[in-house]
Amino acid sequence: MIGEPRVHVAECESTQLLLDASMAEGTIATTDHQTSGRGRLGRTWDDEPGTSLLCSVLLKPPADRRAAEVTLVGGLATAEIVERALGLSAQIKWPNDVMVDRRKVAGGLAELLEGAVILGIGINVNQTRDQLPGDTRAPAASLRTIDGRVREREPILADLLATLEQAYEAWVAGGIDALYGEIGARDFLRGRRVSVNGTTGTALMIARDGRLEIETAAGTVAVEGGELTYER
Ligand code: BTN
Repeated sequence: MIGEPRVHVAECESTQLLLDASMAEGTIATTDHQTSGRGRLGRTWDDEPGTSLLCSVLLKPPADRRAAEVTLVGGLATAEIVERALGLSAQIKWPNDVMVDRRKVAGGLAELLEGAVILGIGINVNQTRDQLPGDTRAPAASLRTIDGRVREREPILADLLATLEQAYEAWVAGGIDALYGEIGARDFLRGRRVSVNGTTGTALMIARDGRLEIETAAGTVAVEGGELTYER
């Protein structure tokens, strides 16, 4: 069951560092503040103490599955709960961002550790505009800056864990096909001009293996990950 046991600390470097592969699958780590929060590609993930949902989940997927797929499973669950909280549609910006109204409200990070995957999810919940980082590639938003409401974080966490468990079980049983319709329907980049590590073109779709397919002048190319720029 995802969410038990739970390690909670008031502050830590990163919740990604509180879990290890010897723990039971489904163990989570949460905190109110990270002093060295990790983002994708070695970036930092900054938070204002007490305002964000900061959570890592220990998963032990079948050995033949790609970590990129876990990122998508996490992104889908996060998009669904953000949508429920706001009553507005949320998109997945490949590979790991959740967007509302073209602003990033959440990010996910899947890190491999001794055959296990540590899936970290950060959701901007109660930050005011001033408390959000201003220098991010995708402009940032919180649930609060979108609809003005201050929320308790625990019910959002409970919804996230239940939704993630459902999505994860469906994926373990049926692979990405089981979730593909839901992921495709939320694909933020589809049809946008993008550039990923020097490959430039129009984003076609998120592929079933978690890569992004781009239509370039030289044909369709599937990219694994990396530095992404996109047309707003
Ligand atoms: C990204 O957008 O680049 C990914 C951000 C992931 C942030 C979460 S917050 C909880 C967990 N602990 C971390 O240090 N990072 C992830």
